[in-house]
Amino acid sequence: MKKRIWILTLFPEMFKSFLECGVAGSALRGDREGAVKFEIKFVNIRDYSLTKYKSVDDTPYGGGPGMIMRADILKDALLKGVLEAGEYSSLSELEVIYTSPRGQVWNSQVAREFSQEYLSSSSKDIVFIAGRYEGIDERFLSLYVNRYFSVGDYVLTGGEIPIMAMLDSAVRFLPHVLGNKLSSEADSFEDGLIEYPQYTKPREFDGLEVPAVLLEGHHKKIQQWQEEQKLAMTKKFRPDLIK
Ligand SMILES: C[S@@+](CC[C@H](N)C(=O)[O-])C[C@H]1O[C@@H](n2cnc3c(N)ncnc32)[C@H](O)[C@@H]1O
Repeated sequence: MKKRIWILTLFPEMFKSFLECGVAGSALRGDREGAVKFEIKFVNIRDYSLTKYKSVDDTPYGGGPGMIMRADILKDALLKGVLEAGEYSSLSELEVIYTSPRGQVWNSQVAREFSQEYLSSSSKDIVFIAGRYEGIDERFLSLYVNRYFSVGDYVLTGGEIPIMAMLDSAVRFLPHVLGNKLSSEADSFEDGLIEYPQYTKPREFDGLEVPAVLLEGHHKKIQQWQEEQKLAMTKKFRPDLIK
């Protein structure tokens, strides 16, 4: 059975090239042999507006800048667009996730846990809600959202890019998504350090040679050099990780 990922958004078209391209795209289209089969379903929140101009937002009570997404419209998008359309018997069959600056901050470890907890074939289907404007009426969030995730301590104009970043980084940890299992294990952050420097052809480039140790074919020496380089790179580029 396919694992469905529902995305409630005002801009489904933003996901088009993401889903068409690269490893994450093919994993999420369900094209990777042996991997979890996903089905991405979009619900355009605007389709649930009852106003003439299809608005989904209104001014905040108490005043303040910007507009807030309406709880009643989001509720309809969730209950009619997902629950009913997806033939679920209750919301408890779904994990509803809102991307928001208030959420748990995303990193490699969180992505790995997310892939196990939310993207395995036995886990519940997921609903992502992409906020826009100044965010969403708190009453909808308190009634319907199970988890909050943030992609970092900065503010984006919408939740679509955070959803893509989360999915892209999490599917890499799923079995049969990356060609070589070791490639995610050797990546940055896996052991708390940055990746060692990598080289390919040509052997000489603009006067710079590939480090000699990599040409000698001595596996143990290469491994040792890579370990030293990881530490040196981390000290140089991300000294905060050493602490
Ligand atoms: C302009 S932001 C709203 C920011 C909100 N007024 C605040 O100060 O927290 C619009 C939407 O973008 C998304 N968003 C913005 N920054 C984000 C972040 N760092 N992580 C995850 N989602 C984010 C959220 O879905 C949010 O509802």
